[in-house]
Amino acid sequence: MGAYQDFYRRSIDQRDAFWTEQAQLIDWHKPFGKVLDYSKPPFAKWFVGGETNLCHNALDRHLAARGDQKALIFISTETGQEQTWSFRELHTEVSRCAAMIRGQGVAKGDRVLIYMPMIPEAVFAMLACARLGAVHSVVFGGFAAHSLAARIDDARPKLMITADGGLRGGRAILYQPMFSEALRISKSPPGKVIVFNRGLDPDLKLKPGRDLDYETLRAQHMDEAVPVTWLEASEPSYILYTSGTTGQPKGVQRDTGGYAVALAASMKHIYDGRPGETMFTTSDIGWVVGHSYIVYGPLIHGMTTILYEGLPIRPDAGIWWKIVSEHKVTVMFSSPTAARVLKKQDPAYLKKYDLSGLRHLFLAGEPLDEPTHRWMSDAIGRPVIDHYWQTETGWPILSAVPGIEATPVKPGSPSFPVFGYDLRLLRESDASEAGPNEKCVVAVIPPLPPGCMTTVWGDDERFVRTYFTSFRDKLVYTTFDWGIRDADGYYFILGRTDDVINVAGHRLGTREIEEAVQAHPNVAEVAVVGVADPVKGQMPLAFAVVKDATRIATPKLRASHEQEVMNTVDKMLGAIGRPSRVHFVTLLPKTRSGKLLRRTIQALAEGRDPGDLTTIEDPGALEQIRAALAVKR
Ligand code: PRX
Repeated sequence: MGAYQDFYRRSIDQRDAFWTEQAQLIDWHKPFGKVLDYSKPPFAKWFVGGETNLCHNALDRHLAARGDQKALIFISTETGQEQTWSFRELHTEVSRCAAMIRGQGVAKGDRVLIYMPMIPEAVFAMLACARLGAVHSVVFGGFAAHSLAARIDDARPKLMITADGGLRGGRAILYQPMFSEALRISKSPPGKVIVFNRGLDPDLKLKPGRDLDYETLRAQHMDEAVPVTWLEASEPSYILYTSGTTGQPKGVQRDTGGYAVALAASMKHIYDGRPGETMFTTSDIGWVVGHSYIVYGPLIHGMTTILYEGLPIRPDAGIWWKIVSEHKVTVMFSSPTAARVLKKQDPAYLKKYDLSGLRHLFLAGEPLDEPTHRWMSDAIGRPVIDHYWQTETGWPILSAVPGIEATPVKPGSPSFPVFGYDLRLLRESDASEAGPNEKCVVAVIPPLPPGCMTTVWGDDERFVRTYFTSFRDKLVYTTFDWGIRDADGYYFILGRTDDVINVAGHRLGTREIEEAVQAHPNVAEVAVVGVADPVKGQMPLAFAVVKDATRIATPKLRASHEQEVMNTVDKMLGAIGRPSRVHFVTLLPKTRSGKLLRRTIQALAEGRDPGDLTTIEDPGALEQIRAALAVKR
């Protein structure tokens, strides 16, 4: 591990020299003076005084050398569309979109909320915001009215850009019912809403004075060139909300210069992509993977990116591999859930196409079990790399770095710490360092490297309190993940230390789901836990105490009440948070001080030993959980 070790050590021991070198991978309008200002720990300001712009680095700077190269390929197996934009064409389209946004009075620092399906206009809108120095807040299209409203209220956007709907498995998911309700209940709704009409909603109605039709507006700005707004490196590029322990999602704030450098460095050294090649990331633009590796990363690196709307198995399980082969994809990024979905299909589909050009398939977002890792590598006959990171970091924390050295992978392990991260495994009790194979908390000694979150939007105090106070007397960033390191230095991630669950790679807070369940008027109290699922990794499971027990007096009433509660979750949070079951009990297991014993419930639901039960207030509550789990529907 010579080359990897040298590269990694240099990033830690000669931090400033290392990052000065990586910073050459992007264009600077004005060079930075100081590599890092860490005068106010844990707040890190990278590339101080430097001026740059994400859109310029993604598009403008490539025009001379690769103006005619494909920049964006949109493939929808839902509509059958396939459309391509060269760097020049994408630049023109993004300028139009920037003119449209600017025309609504949006200027540098203003927030723009993007609530869109996987369509090219979503990419145009993100890049257009970046061009203007406006801060985008993309909200995943799977979130429903209440979640959307909470994000609107926190970011206070001047403008929202949305569409009439998304498509999934041939079914339209209409957005207007959700965004109209969100705007109605929001305390600070944006004054303007641009709606892209895909023709999915015959009842789509634009509200005069507030709503604007995307195409009409575009036609008014066809030839408008919008200059890039230069930002100081630490000025914000975007906010992306993520779940934690509380019901209130945190706005992860990202800077501009550090993010551009981290993405450029990761594209080269981790993903091992080359300018001119094609990258295919199967995530959604509403998640961090979509931000970093559908939109910004590949384009900054001069690569073509593929935006895919559809499922991995429709029309058949060969579709992604057909795309890889036809578009000569060299770097692919997907999720363990997608791999497990494919594993259930006929493996012949994966053998049908020539995948020899694919250098690596990267998987992240949730634990990758060993059998799935092995199966995936065998099925496609290409190297599969598990890598680990978070919305907070914006780019990988643990990974192999094949651009530096082709270290062997161990199935089940996301390999080693990535350059820039002073990664440690720390004992919860006293923050001392773990020994080999000792389960400890995965932590990073600050400053966090470039590209990581700079604060919680509008709440510096929450940033420090949430991430840097887990260990007494020691300022350390906690990932909230358990991990171990084996004798060969390979890391393994063993799940979260908090109440975050991971459903098909979608990160959700159990508290968030509980609040959605509790929105049902007949629910007095509820506990939601994540339970191991063979395909989705985890599934939420709810135990609810009702106010009026007559509503669940018979099995039939119970079943319909359960459905009603599930519908409430769909409406409040979105179907991604819907529990697999809602069991009704009269008592929840709690400690004497009233703390819900979620871990105990989770252990029972997974058929594990719940451990020490001496703290429980009323053991009868556990009996009810056991009984509820024993009853099959
Ligand atoms: O628990 C870890 C898990 O997903 C969390 C981060 O999720 P999110 O913020 O949505 O960012 C995903 C970016 C890829 C982590 O705290 N996680 C992510 N990757 C892995 C993982 N768990 C195990 N192995 C991984 N490779």
